[in-house]
Amino acid sequence: MPLTSDRYLVTGAMGCIGSWVIRHLLTEGCDVVAFDLSTDDRRHQLIIDPADRCRIHYVQGDLTELEQVLAASAGVSHIIHLGALQVPFCRDDRPGGAAVNVVGTVNIFETALRRSIDNLVYASSVAVFGNANDYPQPILTAHDDRAPSTLYGVWKCANEAMARVYQLEDGLPSIGLIPHTVYGPGRDQGLTSQPTTAILAAVRGKNFHIDYGGVLGFQFAPDVARIFIDSARVDPAGAELFGLGGHIAPVEEFIGSIEAVTGFLGVTHGNQTLPFPHGMDDSSLRARLGEVTCTALGDSISETAQWFERAEAQGLPLPNLN
Ligand SMILES: NC(=O)c1ccc[n+]([C@@H]2O[C@H](COP(=O)([O-])OP(=O)(O)OC[C@H]3O[C@@H](n4cnc5c(N)ncnc54)[C@H](O)[C@@H]3O)[C@@H](O)[C@H]2O)c1
Repeated sequence: MPLTSDRYLVTGAMGCIGSWVIRHLLTEGCDVVAFDLSTDDRRHQLIIDPADRCRIHYVQGDLTELEQVLAASAGVSHIIHLGALQVPFCRDDRPGGAAVNVVGTVNIFETALRRSIDNLVYASSVAVFGNANDYPQPILTAHDDRAPSTLYGVWKCANEAMARVYQLEDGLPSIGLIPHTVYGPGRDQGLTSQPTTAILAAVRGKNFHIDYGGVLGFQFAPDVARIFIDSARVDPAGAELFGLGGHIAPVEEFIGSIEAVTGFLGVTHGNQTLPFPHGMDDSSLRARLGEVTCTALGDSISETAQWFERAEAQGLPLPNLN
C-alpha cells in the first residue's frame, strides 16, 4: 500500500506508459514528480483527469544531464524510469539514442545510488531478443539469450547489464520489466503503435493498414502501468528482470476484436513480421507480484474505442491519420 510519505519520480512522464503510471499514482493520492524533456502534454490531457493534473510536480529535464536528474529526485522514495527514444527515433539519431537510452539510464542508476533509493523500476524491451525463429520456442523467459537486431535493443541490453553491475558493485537493487506491444489511449509513437492507431482509425471509420502480421504480445497500457507501480513497491532483492505477458495473439485476432467492438471492417495488415519473439512467459512476474492485472482483449479494445470517442467529442488532442 502507498504511504503518504512516498514520492515517485516518473521519467518519460509525458509518454504513453508514463501518463498511465501518473494517472494511477494520483488516483491513489501519491506525490508525483513528472520528469520529461518534452512539455507536450497531449497524453496527460487525454489520460489524466484535469482536477488531478494540478497535483503533478512537472520538471522539464534531460535524462542525459545527471545534475538535472539528481535535482528532480530530492525527497523521492521510488523511481519508475520510462524515458527513452523508441526504435524509429533511435534510427534517425543514433548518437542521440545512445545518449538518452544508455547515459540517461546510467544517470538514473547513479541517482538512485547517491540518494539511497532502493525502489527502482526501469523499462527494458522485447527488442533485446532476436526474432521468433532464433529460438526453439516462441514464448521466451526473461533470461533467454539476447540477440537484438536494432541499436535500441542493444542499448536496452546495456541497461539490463548495467542494472546487474550496479547490484554487484554497489548493492543497488532494481527491477527491469520487458514490455512487448503496448496498446491503448496515449500509444501513438514507436514501431508497435500501429495496433492502437488501427483502433482510432476504426472509431473514425477510416481504413487503416498495419504494416506487419505475426503473433505479438499485446499489453494494455493501463495494465502495464499498474505492473510498473506494483513492481516499484515490492521489497528489493537484487537486479531482477521480468517479462510482461498480456495477450499473445496473431495480429488478425486483434483486428477481429476491433471489428467486433466497432463494427468497422476496414483494418488490414501486412505479412512481414517484427524481429521479436511472439511473447513472454510472465509466470515469474506473477509469482513475484502475487497478482498481475490483465484486462480481456475485447474489453480493453472496447475501453480504448470509447476513450477515443469521448476524446473526439471533447476536442482533446488525438493523432491525425493520413
Ligand atoms: N510502448 C511499448 O510498446 C514499449 C515496448 C517495450 C519497451 N517500452 C519501453 O517503455 C518505456 C516507455 O514507453 P512509452 O511507450 O511510454 O514511450 P513514449 O515514447 O511514449 O515516451 C517516452 C518519453 O521519454 C521522453 N524522453 C525522451 N528523451 C528524453 C530525455 N533526454 N530526457 C527526458 N525524457 C526524455 C519523451 O519525451 C517521451 O515523453 C520506454 O523506455 C520504452 O522503450 C515500450
